Amino acid sequence: MADQDAQSSVGIEAPALPVLRWDELPEGPVLVLLDQTRLPAEEAELVCADVPALVRAIRTLAVRGAPLLGIAGAYGVALAAVRGDDVAEAAELLERARPTAVNLGYGVRRAAGAYRAAREKEADPERAAAVALAEARALHREDAEASGRMARYGLALLDELLPGGGYRLLTHCNTGALVSGGEGTAFAVALGALREGRLRRLWVDETRPLLQGARLTAYEAARNGMPYSLLTDSAAGSLFAAGEVDAVLIGADRIAADGSVANKVGSYPLAVLAKYHHVPFIVVAPTTTVDLDTADGASITVEQRPGNEVTELTFPRIGAAGGDTGGLLVAPAGTPVYNPAFDVTPPELVTAIVTEEGAVSPVTGVGLAELCARSSQV
Ligand code: MRU
Repeated sequence: MADQDAQSSVGIEAPALPVLRWDELPEGPVLVLLDQTRLPAEEAELVCADVPALVRAIRTLAVRGAPLLGIAGAYGVALAAVRGDDVAEAAELLERARPTAVNLGYGVRRAAGAYRAAREKEADPERAAAVALAEARALHREDAEASGRMARYGLALLDELLPGGGYRLLTHCNTGALVSGGEGTAFAVALGALREGRLRRLWVDETRPLLQGARLTAYEAARNGMPYSLLTDSAAGSLFAAGEVDAVLIGADRIAADGSVANKVGSYPLAVLAKYHHVPFIVVAPTTTVDLDTADGASITVEQRPGNEVTELTFPRIGAAGGDTGGLLVAPAGTPVYNPAFDVTPPELVTAIVTEEGAVSPVTGVGLAELCARSSQV
């Protein structure tokens, strides 16, 4: 039976195909993903029948974005459990698939913990697998709900910072329905502003090298009838200088205990620009992205990606590192490359962090810890 409830129940303007769904085929259970490497040219599904296939999908960014990685990780554990595979081994493989987004480990540990607890209570493996699947579904639903609450808190904050509306918002990477059980994080706030007639323009950074802004955010903005314009990452400076940006809205992959924010590479330069131009720099992320066990920005592991993502235009064969990707060379073959997937913005450059439990501004470790404590009480 297809599981599309978590997305349809919140009535969102979702992509044409579900971003992620559990299905039970005659040959066994599968996790079906909207293959994000093929967007926007093609809306195609990628069927993962086992954990190694899902790990490949995560590494090649067929499924991506912090909250969705958590959901995928949890379903991955359920997949292993239902298939009768070694759940602990599957959990380890999944958790190691990408290092920066803390949600991945959160989702994996949650489903694996539920499975383990059920087994300890003497449930048979089949019953424990059903418990793991229920946990993945619960996380999927909770993420959709969190998305709606973040949008409301984010809109209230914009109202406070920029009374009058008519916002021109700049965003980076992709933070909409493609990364979430609901409408996303930062993009959900922009969508809320659009519905209230308060959005003048969404500026979309193309987000080199893998173009999540151009391929995915522009796709979502167009589908939602949003007024938007795409710019190259390097055009952001002149856009600020022209006074065309009222606020920056981005998501996060991991927020350290001191409020340092790891997000798609290119976020930190935007924060510096925003500071110089006295423009609010707002991070929107669920509390599942806050990692109180990581003390500060320097302690965050930043994923380094293959050089061919920079030296070649590789679409749709992202991640085919080292081999023949069939990509178009845009630098001499063998050029040494610096290709971090993320950068870290220190808390003093962040105007506010908006979560489903409210916003913290100024950003302090104490404020963040309070929001997280609220969330675990729910
Ligand atoms: O490498 P990606 O595409 O997974 O990176 C995603 C991002 O950096 C997003 O901005 C982040 O996960 C926040 S999405 C809510």
